[in-house]
Amino acid sequence: MRLLVCGGAGFIGSTFTRLRLQDHGDEVTVLDKLTYAGREENFHDFAENPAFRFVLGAIEDREAVAAAIELAAPEAIVNFAAETHVDRSIAEPDAFVRTHALGTYVLLEAARESDLRYLQVSTDEVYGSIEVGTFTEESPLRPSSPYSATKTGADLLVESYFHTYGLPSVICRGSNNYGPYQYPEKLIPLMILNALHSDSLPVYGDGMQVRNWIHSTDFARAIGYVLEHGVPGEVYNAGGPEEEANIDVVRRIIELTGASESQIEHVTDRPGHDRRYSLSSEKVRALGWAPQVRFEEGLAATVEWYRDSSWWWEPIRSGDYRRYYERQYGRSLG
Ligand code: NAD
Ligand code: DAU
Repeated sequence: MRLLVCGGAGFIGSTFTRLRLQDHGDEVTVLDKLTYAGREENFHDFAENPAFRFVLGAIEDREAVAAAIELAAPEAIVNFAAETHVDRSIAEPDAFVRTHALGTYVLLEAARESDLRYLQVSTDEVYGSIEVGTFTEESPLRPSSPYSATKTGADLLVESYFHTYGLPSVICRGSNNYGPYQYPEKLIPLMILNALHSDSLPVYGDGMQVRNWIHSTDFARAIGYVLEHGVPGEVYNAGGPEEEANIDVVRRIIELTGASESQIEHVTDRPGHDRRYSLSSEKVRALGWAPQVRFEEGLAATVEWYRDSSWWWEPIRSGDYRRYYERQYGRSLG
C-alpha cells in the first residue's frame, strides 16, 4: 500500500512506519510537525529506505497536507498526529484543541477531496474510567481530561464524515502502550530512566490506578489489521493482554534495573485521575489480530532498550524535558 502516516515521527507512529516498511513492503510518507515528542532519530534504521519519505508540516496546515498528499499519492491516511500527554493537557490544553479538532478536520477534508481511506488512531481514554468490567466499542464516551475530551471530539468528527459524506473511515482505540522510542514523560520510560539515574520515582497518589498495557508493536499490528480488514464506519478497540496497578509496574522496574524501593516517592495525584482502564479486543481479534508480547517479557526488553540507547534519550534528558520535569514535579532531574 501507499500510506500517508501523520504523526509518524512519534513513538507509535514510527513503530507502525517501521513495521509497514519492513514487514509489508509498503510505501510510507510521514507528515509530522516535529513537536517535542516527534524526532527524526526515530527513523534512524529506515531513513535511507527508498520507500520512505518525510514531510515536515502540521496536520492543521491545509497546504502542508495537500503537498504531502501530492508527494505520497496515498491510498490511505493513517492519523497518529496528536498531543499525547495527559499532564500537559491539564497544564496547557491549547495545542490539544488545535491539533485534535482542527488538524483532524483538515485531514478528513483532504481525504474526502482525494477519495482516500482514513484511519484515526484513538485511545481507550475516550471511554473514561471503569472500576469493574471492561469497555467495548459500544460503551458510552465519557472522557475526563482535556487530552481525552479532544481525542473524543476528533473521533466524533471522523464518525460524522462517515455518516454524512460516506468517507471510508475507521477508528482504532488503543490502551496504554509501552516499548522503545517512548518519550520519557510517560510512566514506564520515566520510571526506567529515573531508576537508572538513581532519581526518585514519582508515583501519583496511592499508585493503585490500573492500566491495560500493550506493547507498541502489538498496537501497530492491530492498526494494520484494522486498516486492511476493518469495516468502514466501525470502531475497533485494541487492548493489551495484562492489567497492572502503577505501583506494581514501578516495583517491576525497580527489580529489572536494580534500583531501590526507597526511591519511590508518592507525590500529589493528577487532577481528575482516571482510576482504571480496561479494554475488550474481541472485535479486532475477529479480524485475525492477537497480542504477541506478554507484559513481563516486553517490559524486560524495554528496560534493556533504554539501558542500551543513551544515544536516543540523552539529548532529551539534557534538553527541554529537564524544564518540563521541574515544572511538573517541582524538583530537578539528577
Ligand atoms: P507521541 O507524542 O510519541 O507522538 C505524537 C506525534 O505527533 C509526534 O511525532 C508529534 O510531532 C506529532 N504531532 C503532534 N501534533 C502534530 C500536528 N499538529 N501536526 C503534525 N504532527 C503532529 O504519541 P504516541 O504515544 O506515539 O501516540 C500516537 C497516537 O496514538 C496518538 O493519536 C495517541 O492519542 C494514540 N494513542 C497513544 C497511546 C499511548 O499509550 N501512547 C495509547 C493509545 C492511543
Ligand atoms: O490509555 C491510553 C493512553 O495512555 C494514551 O491515550 C495516552 O496518550 C498515554 O499518554 C497514556 O495515558 P496515561 O495518562 O494513562 O499515561 P501516563 O504514562 O501519563 O500515566 C500512566 C499512569 O501512571 C497513570 O495512572 C498516571 C501514572 N503516573 C504517570 C506519571 C507520568 C504516575 O504515577 N507518575 C508519573 O510520573
